[in-house]
Amino acid sequence: MPLTFDDLLHRARALTQGGRRAILGIAGSPGAGKSTLAEHLVRELNGGGAPWVAHVPMDGFHLADAELERLGLRDRKGAPDTFDAAGYAALLRRLRDEPGDVVYAPGFERELEQPVAGAIPVPPTARLVVTEGNYLLLTTGAWPRVRPLLDEVWFCELPERERVRRLVARHEQFGKTHEEAVAWVARSDERNAELVAATRGRADLVVPCGA
Ligand SMILES: Nc1ncnc2c1ncn2[C@@H]1O[C@H](COP(=O)(O)OP(=O)(O)OP(=O)(O)O)[C@@H](O)[C@H]1O
Ligand SMILES: [Mg+2]
Repeated sequence: MPLTFDDLLHRARALTQGGRRAILGIAGSPGAGKSTLAEHLVRELNGGGAPWVAHVPMDGFHLADAELERLGLRDRKGAPDTFDAAGYAALLRRLRDEPGDVVYAPGFERELEQPVAGAIPVPPTARLVVTEGNYLLLTTGAWPRVRPLLDEVWFCELPERERVRRLVARHEQFGKTHEEAVAWVARSDERNAELVAATRGRADLVVPCGA
């Protein structure tokens, strides 16, 4: 039977049955729909009541442009080594170990394409944290520190053509010309997509994100 959104809600709720705060990861290639799925889940789970589910994107751990410049990595922005993977893992550990404190996560400002510290408060009432990004299941660099801190990881999957179409559209929406968007996707996003696709088999669940 195909997986329904209700199945996902049920599965996410079940993660919190142990009593302690749970962390659900959503991995997937650039533009696959991870952030959209996470937002949808968080909105539905929270409903109209007091929020008990928080959304913490991996995107907040992009290195700042000034640092990418210094490292000579500015033109590879979005690749695994252009993030503070160890910082991300440390934040996940705090979210697990310090549930009684407000833990601040950095956000990512798409207009500026820059991380913003202290943008996302995770309050003690958050019994489930949904975190999402490209590299949750990667095995290189500091990325392997991430998986053991997550209760489950889902892999958000979208057929290639549609994924590329959405990515190009989003780059255009945030200021690139069509030609610039196509070139950036072909050169940068797709190289990263291959790295992510290779981690699919390590996920607990594959979620079709085409709906
Ligand atoms: N069901 C949908 N139909 C059409 N467009 C969609 C749908 N879901 C998401 N999108 C669009 O596709 C683009 C990519 O979606 P989203 O930002 O959720 O992906 P992502 O996996 O988080 O990407 P990234 O890795 O770049 O953060 C966005 O512009 C979003 O608005
Ligand atoms: Mg996203």
